[in-house]
Formats: sequence, C-alpha cells, structure tokens
Amino acid sequence: MIPENKCSRCPLSEFRTKIVMPDGNENSNIVLVGEAPGETEDLTGRPFVGRSGKLLEKIMKEEGIERSDVLITNTVKCRPPGNRDPTKEEMDACRPFLEHELSGKRVVVGLGRSACRILIGYEGKMSDIVNKETTITISGKEITFLPSYHPAACIYNSASKEELKRTMRILRERYMGGAEHRPKQRKICDDPIAKDVTDAKNVFTADAAAIDWNDVSGMMIDMDGTVYKGDNVIHGAPEFIERVKKRKIPFVFLTNNSSSDREHYLSKLTKMGFNVSIDNILTSTTATISYLLKHHPGRTVYPIGTQRFVNEIRAKGVRIVEKDPDIVLLAFDTSITYEKINNAYHFIKNGSMFVATHPDDLCPTEHGYDVDIGAFIRFLESMTGVRTTVIGKPNTLMTEMASEIMNVPMKKMVMIGDRLYTDMRMASDAGIRSVMVLTGEARREDISGDIHPTMVVNSVNDLIL
Ligand code: URA
Repeated sequence: MIPENKCSRCPLSEFRTKIVMPDGNENSNIVLVGEAPGETEDLTGRPFVGRSGKLLEKIMKEEGIERSDVLITNTVKCRPPGNRDPTKEEMDACRPFLEHELSGKRVVVGLGRSACRILIGYEGKMSDIVNKETTITISGKEITFLPSYHPAACIYNSASKEELKRTMRILRERYMGGAEHRPKQRKICDDPIAKDVTDAKNVFTADAAAIDWNDVSGMMIDMDGTVYKGDNVIHGAPEFIERVKKRKIPFVFLTNNSSSDREHYLSKLTKMGFNVSIDNILTSTTATISYLLKHHPGRTVYPIGTQRFVNEIRAKGVRIVEKDPDIVLLAFDTSITYEKINNAYHFIKNGSMFVATHPDDLCPTEHGYDVDIGAFIRFLESMTGVRTTVIGKPNTLMTEMASEIMNVPMKKMVMIGDRLYTDMRMASDAGIRSVMVLTGEARREDISGDIHPTMVVNSVNDLIL
C-alpha cells in the first residue's frame, strides 16, 4: 500500500509540499527507517537528503555502504510543522505504508527514538538498546530489528556517531555478505601462493617509500595467510624473518586462532623453518587471559573451547566452572557441541557476561577456509540480545600487549597481515602503520571505507628491509 498523491489520512497533509516516498533500492533486504521528513525532504519528496541525510550517507560510505544498497524511508511521509517529532497518531496514520515497505525484508534499522517507539514500542534511552538486535513482526513474519541513533543525534555526539557506524558495519558484515570479509572464489592461477611470487610480475608492487624501515622499532606479524597458509609455508617467509632479525627489529607473531596454544604454534613455525622462540608468539588466548585476570580477577568462567585452550587458561589461573559462571568465554572450538552452545545460551540469558577470544568468521587452511567462531558469536548475540566483548584482533588490546612485550612504543610498530577487518582495522584503530599482504584473504580491490593499509605487497617475500 502506498500513499495517494492527495493523501489526507492525518493533519500533516495540510503542511506538506511533497509526500516523501521511500528511496534507494526497493529490492534491498535492508530498510533504514527515519522519523519524519524535514524541510529539504518536503521540497524534494526524497528522504534523508538534507543535513542528516548527508551525514547518514557519509557514515554509510565509510563502512562501504551506498545509498543504492538499502531502502530508506520514514515513519511518516509528510513533514511535521517546525520539523518536530511525529506524534503517535501521525505515525499510526502512516503505518500501513510503512508495513508495506517493510514486508518481506530481512532487517530493519530504526534510526532514532520515533522509529523505535513505533516499531518496537520502546520509550527508554537509546543507549540501552543501540545495536542490540531484536525482532518485529511484519505481515505475520518475524524480521530482525536493529535500533540505532538518528544521524541528527550524531552531529555533535561522537559516541552516537560511532554507534551508528557500528550499525552500518553490522549491516555490511551480517546482512550484505561482508564483501571485504568473505574470501573470494579465486582461480588457482590468480593465487599468489600458487606462483613463485619472486618471479611473478608484481601487479601490486611495494611502494618502498611508504614505510621508512629505519623508523620501525617493532613488528606485529599475522601468521595464517601471512607467513603460512594452513600447513603450507608462504614462499620466502622464513627468509623475511631472518631479514627482520638481522636488522634487530623485535617482532611478535599474532594470531586470533585460539584453538591451539603457543607451544603448538612454536612447533609449527619451527617445523616450517622459522627460527623463532615462544616469546615471539602472542595468541588471542594469551590476550584473553590477560584481559580476564586484569579486568575480571577471580570471576568464574564457562569456556567453550578445545581441551588445549581450557588447559591453557586454567594453568594461567582462570577459574573454570561448569555451572552459573560470571563469564561465558567462547574460543575457536573445533569440538563444539549442541550442549555447550545451549549451556552458553542459558548462562548468558541468566546474566553471564559474554566474551569471545576473536571475531573471525573463517579460518584459512591449506585447502581453503574452515568455519571459525563469528557465526557462533552472532548466533548467541541474536538469541540473547547480549553484546559480546571481543578480545583478539581488531581489538587494539593485542597491539598494547605486543608493545609491552617488545618494549616498543605503539607509534614505532608496524602491523603486517592479510585481513582487512582484523589486521588492518586494528592497525588503523591503533593509529599505527600497516602492510597488507595478498597471500591470504583480502584482495587489493577489497580496500574501501576507512581502512587504508600504509602499503600493499604481494607477499612478505617482497619486503626488503
Ligand atoms: N530526518 C528523518 O528522520 N528523515 C528524513 O528524511 C530526514 C531527516
């Protein structure tokens, strides 16, 4: 159902110049619902084209979303006088149009208080519900509802703006196939690992001037996809590490993979020909243990992880329980069961905090990619409405720990890795320089939004220090 040109279902019709109809992509599964048109919208008949609209578009773009990716609409289609909030009566009059627009969609974002009031009946503070997914029933079907701030509330408030950005990130990663975060299907001959990268005509050459290596006092180096892929060593990676050592630059290998302990990684690297020690390895498990002991000392933890993981955290003094934990801790668990997930669900519902060692959706292997923990995080978040505290990359906690371990100031470090949404984002959030390699997940064309590696190279083998 759409409004007629002469619609007069409520008194707002007296004040309008144009009815403001939905805009963007009507076939999109995603709908952004604002509150009411303002002056510019009233004159043009298009939603979100004034000041709020400009900010909304900017935030969307920063997270890699275009206006044409989503449908944009409002709770009411006519401008209330003086740009005031629409009343319940006005929103009720327009509700059949909104119902029609939302019907059959997958996710609806409520931009601001009015949209949340009319769609989920919420009257409280936005900060209590922002980015916590819930469901609404439209035309008899349940669809996801994601509450967020109205762009107007973000103009002078950077915290709200960050939350609105997070909303866009959630949309991209969860509902738009997460372009940058899903491995592309590549022909084997396009894969830099399949070729000898030293012989390849480098399509992407290292910009030698991009990083002054004399100004680098420490390196953080991702492992999977950067120095090896599954059980295959990346050509030239051990020699790269030798060059780093020769220049006496301290380094730590960072991995988000919490299925194995540091000893396992040390033995794996050694077998592959890397001459390194255990102090060169920092896993998301180590970072999580440090986080728990520092921020939640003495708290009880229900771990979902491999036996190695459980042994490691227990040995470091984390109190493990099977029932009523203070914290549910999710790691990369290759032995995950229905029972563990169901227990976690009940514990979180009953008030346990929810922590995850890292956020990755997929884990690179020598054959392609295996399922990692991202889907389990989203599953438990959507079942419980509780947001996860994620410790591994891109949380800058890993950077801080690396800086402490190497005794090097953050600004003097460089991050080398293959993933945009973990390695490169962490570097970007920490304000440090980064090198993206093309031997793992990300392609050069995936670079978008606010994450721009300082340098992009085919492989660590190309890094001549
Ligand atoms: N604010 C809204 O809620 N909607 C618009 O279309 C413009 C500003």
